[in-house]
Amino acid sequence: MLNIKKNLSKIIASKLQNDKYDEAFIEGLISVPPDEKLGDYALPCFRVSDGKNPKEKAAELCALLTGDDDSRDFFAKIDVVGAYLNFYLNRAKISSAIVSEILDAGENYGKSREGENKKVIVEFSSPNIAKPFHIGHLCSTAIGNSLSRIYDFLGYDVVRINHIGDWGTQFGKLISAYKRWGNREAILKAPMDELLKIYVRFHEEAKEHPELEDEARHYFNLLENNDPEITELWQFFVDASLSEFNRMYKKLDISFDSFAGESFYSDKMPEIVDILKEKGLLEESDGALVVRFDDPNMPPCIIIKSDGSTIYATRDIAAAVYRKRHYDFHKNIYVVGTPQTLHFKQVFSVIRKMGYSWADDCVHVGFGYVRFPDRAISTRNGDVVLLEDVLNESVSKTEEIIKNNGTYDQIENVEEAVSKIGIGAVLFEFLKNGRERDIIFDLEKMLDFEGESGPYVQYTYARGRSVLRKAAENNISFDDADYSLLTEDGEYQLIKVLERIQNVVRDASAKNEPYIVTRYIIEIAKNFNKFYNSTNVLKSDPDIRKARLGLIKAVTIVIKEMLYLIGVGVVEKM
Ligand code: ARG
Repeated sequence: MLNIKKNLSKIIASKLQNDKYDEAFIEGLISVPPDEKLGDYALPCFRVSDGKNPKEKAAELCALLTGDDDSRDFFAKIDVVGAYLNFYLNRAKISSAIVSEILDAGENYGKSREGENKKVIVEFSSPNIAKPFHIGHLCSTAIGNSLSRIYDFLGYDVVRINHIGDWGTQFGKLISAYKRWGNREAILKAPMDELLKIYVRFHEEAKEHPELEDEARHYFNLLENNDPEITELWQFFVDASLSEFNRMYKKLDISFDSFAGESFYSDKMPEIVDILKEKGLLEESDGALVVRFDDPNMPPCIIIKSDGSTIYATRDIAAAVYRKRHYDFHKNIYVVGTPQTLHFKQVFSVIRKMGYSWADDCVHVGFGYVRFPDRAISTRNGDVVLLEDVLNESVSKTEEIIKNNGTYDQIENVEEAVSKIGIGAVLFEFLKNGRERDIIFDLEKMLDFEGESGPYVQYTYARGRSVLRKAAENNISFDDADYSLLTEDGEYQLIKVLERIQNVVRDASAKNEPYIVTRYIIEIAKNFNKFYNSTNVLKSDPDIRKARLGLIKAVTIVIKEMLYLIGVGVVEKM
C-alpha cells in the first residue's frame, strides 16, 4: 500500500546515495511541520550533511529532487528554509492514489501480512468462577479484545485465551459453604449472587469458627485428588459461572479460542516442580518451597506452600510452558491489571531461570483502576461494581437520549442500535487513554454526542452513510470519479489522515496500546466533520461531487474498520 512518508524517504535516500543515510534513517528524521502552511513534511538537512555546510546541502538536495522526472512528479513545491527542506506534495496525485486504494481494498484497507505465521497469544478477561464479573475485568476484556483484533489486522495468527480463575484454595471454602448453606435451585436462578453470598458467609463464620478453614483445606485437597463428588460440585459452580460470563461476552461481541483456566494446569504442575528441583532452583523457606532471585528488590516466588499445595504463580508457570509447547508462540501477552505486575515479573523470571529464553516473549500488559467519583452506578454486592449493571445503565441512558433527540422512531432495529451505542460508549471510553491511567467513570461524558466519545464517532459514521444513501436515492453514482480533484485543504488533510492507518495500527501493536487507534478514530472524525461542515457535498459541481462522495465512502470504510479494532460497532442512523 502507499505509504507517503516511506515513499518520500525512499526518494530522498536515492538522491543522497550514502549508505549511512538509508531509507529508514531518513524516515526517522522526517517530521510533520506544526503548521500545514509549512508543507506536508520537513527534513533537517544538518543531519544528512556529512560535514558539509547544512544550508548548502539543503539547496543541493532540493535541486536534485526537483531536477529529475521521477521525483519531480511527487512534489508540488520544495522550500529551502535555512538548513531545512519543506516538502509540499502533489496533492492531486496523493489524493487520487489513496482514495482509490481505500475504495478498491474496502474493509481490507490498511491490513498487512507482516504477522503471517507468527502466533500471538492474547490472554484476557480471565474472571474468577463464583465471583462477580466486575469492572476491572471489563478493562482486561476491552483491552485484550482490542489487542487481539489489532494483531489480527496485521496478519498475526491470534489465539485468544480466557485464563478463567477456576482453581485454588477458595474452592475448598466454596464447597464447604455450599455443603452448609447452599441451595442448588437458588444458584441456578442467580449463580453469581448466590455463590458470592455463601462465600462471603463462609468468611464471616470462619472468623468465629476457625476450624472451617481446616474443613475448606480438606475439600480443596479432595478436589485436587479428583474426588468424584467434590469434582461434580466444582463443575457445577464452573458451569453456572461460565453461562453468566458468556452472556457478557455475547453482549460485547467477544469470543475466545480457549477457556483453559487455572484448573487446566493442575496436572501439569508436578513436572514444573520436578524441573525446578532438578535445576536446583527450589529453596526451602518456612516450610514452603520458593525460587529466589538475584535482584534484592524481588521477593522470592512461592512455588509450593507450606501445606503442600501449589499456588497461582505455579499455575502460571505451568501455563506458560504449556503454551510454548502447544502453540509455539511468537508473543505471549497477559492483559491483567497493574496490581499483578510483580507477580508476572516473578513468573517470567522463574521461567528465565529455568533456562527458557522465550521468557522474553512473555509480556504483561497492565492497566489502571476504574474510579467512580460520583457513585452513579449501583453496587449490588458491597463495593463491587458489576459489569452488567454498567452496560445496562449505559444502554438505558442511550435510549433516553435518542428518544429526546426525536430520532428513535426512524431507526431500524432500534434496540440493537441503542445497545451498540450504549455498549460502544463504554468500550470507547475505556480505550481512550493510555491503559495504565486510571479511568474516571463518567457516563455523561461517555454519552456526550459532541465530545470525544463513541457516540460522536458513530454519529459521524452515520452522517457519512446518510449522504451516501441520499446520493444513491438521487441516482448519483461515483464509480468513475476522478479523485485527483480532491485538492482543497480540508479534503487533502482528511486524506492524509486516512493514509496513516497502517502506521497507527502498527504503533498500537508495538506498544500494546489500543488508545492509539481510538485517538486516530477521533482524529478522522474531527477532520471529516471539518470538511463536511464547510462543504455542501451534494450541491458541488458534478465532477467534484463524485470525488467527494468517494471520499466520504472511504471515510466510512476506515471508521468502521478502526471501530472494529476497539470492539465498537457502527449504526446506519442515530
Ligand atoms: N483471575 C485473575 C483475577 O481475576 C486474573 C488472571 C490473570 N491471568 C493470569 N495468567 N494470571 O485477578
